[in-house]
Amino acid sequence: MATVDIDPLARDLRFTSADFRRIRTLVYDYAGIALNESKADMAYARLARRLRKLGLSGFGDYLDLLQADPAHPEWQDFINALTTNLTSFFREAHHFDELAALFTAADPGAPFRVWCAASSTGEEPYSIAITLAEQIRTRGGKVEILASDIDTQVLQIAASGIYPAERLAKMSRTRVERFFLKGCGANEGKVRVRKELRESLRFFQLNLSADSWPELGMFDAIFCRNVMIYFDKPTQARLIERLAALMTPSAKLFLGHSENIQYLTDRLVPSGRTSYRLGKSY
Ligand SMILES: C[S@@+](CC[C@H](N)C(=O)[O-])C[C@H]1O[C@@H](n2cnc3c(N)ncnc32)[C@H](O)[C@@H]1O
Repeated sequence: MATVDIDPLARDLRFTSADFRRIRTLVYDYAGIALNESKADMAYARLARRLRKLGLSGFGDYLDLLQADPAHPEWQDFINALTTNLTSFFREAHHFDELAALFTAADPGAPFRVWCAASSTGEEPYSIAITLAEQIRTRGGKVEILASDIDTQVLQIAASGIYPAERLAKMSRTRVERFFLKGCGANEGKVRVRKELRESLRFFQLNLSADSWPELGMFDAIFCRNVMIYFDKPTQARLIERLAALMTPSAKLFLGHSENIQYLTDRLVPSGRTSYRLGKSY
């Protein structure tokens, strides 16, 4: 593996190329995240806060602490620090139109099950819940929405449903009024997802690269958007196979706009803009 040029003078905590190589191995083994060589500065910036909190002056000591104990609680902070959680409400909005159409066409007698598999701070699963709540008004029916992420910090934000009000800037007034409460006093400038909508979702931690997942059941739609970009090809291929195995025959898998899986599997076929269905032979 090539070494990266890390200028010790630019940093107050000891951080060597060997430390960065160790970080890359650990985060890959634990979460499937393939940090490329250009991410040394990012890794330093994000983990420096952890070292300071623990009173450590060098990354070597920090990594020794992790490697000495696979059950050390610091592991979760290490992973939380290295994930990238960028998201927004109704991101890649065309997928929510496809979701509404999929729901409308589904058997109204059976619960419609959706899994949002890298839900970050919650904007994506709440967008799913809003889309389906709007459809339920006219069509009726029941939905079950599961939302998971590896990062426990973002899951806490998601479950609280509290956001800066500007996150809703692009949302229609009707939606804002129906699904959110505006904060006042100490909560001025914040909004909170209404309780009914919050309670229609179940948030839990799940590592997509873990060897085993809990029993999840089958889904009519899976959103796994903008997370595979952090994985290498073998991890992506394995994940796609595992997701495909959880799709009902009419289900759709929604991926991020830059996540093309056509060369990774023949099990799924395109069925919209970065959305996929099971191929005919499956
Ligand atoms: C860029 S965000 C995408 C959020 C949302 N899906 C969207 O498209 O707006 C990527 C999310 O994937 C999560 N993630 C990264 N590795 C993961 C893994 N191995 N298992 C589960 N989630 C993971 C991160 O914590 C982060 O919240």
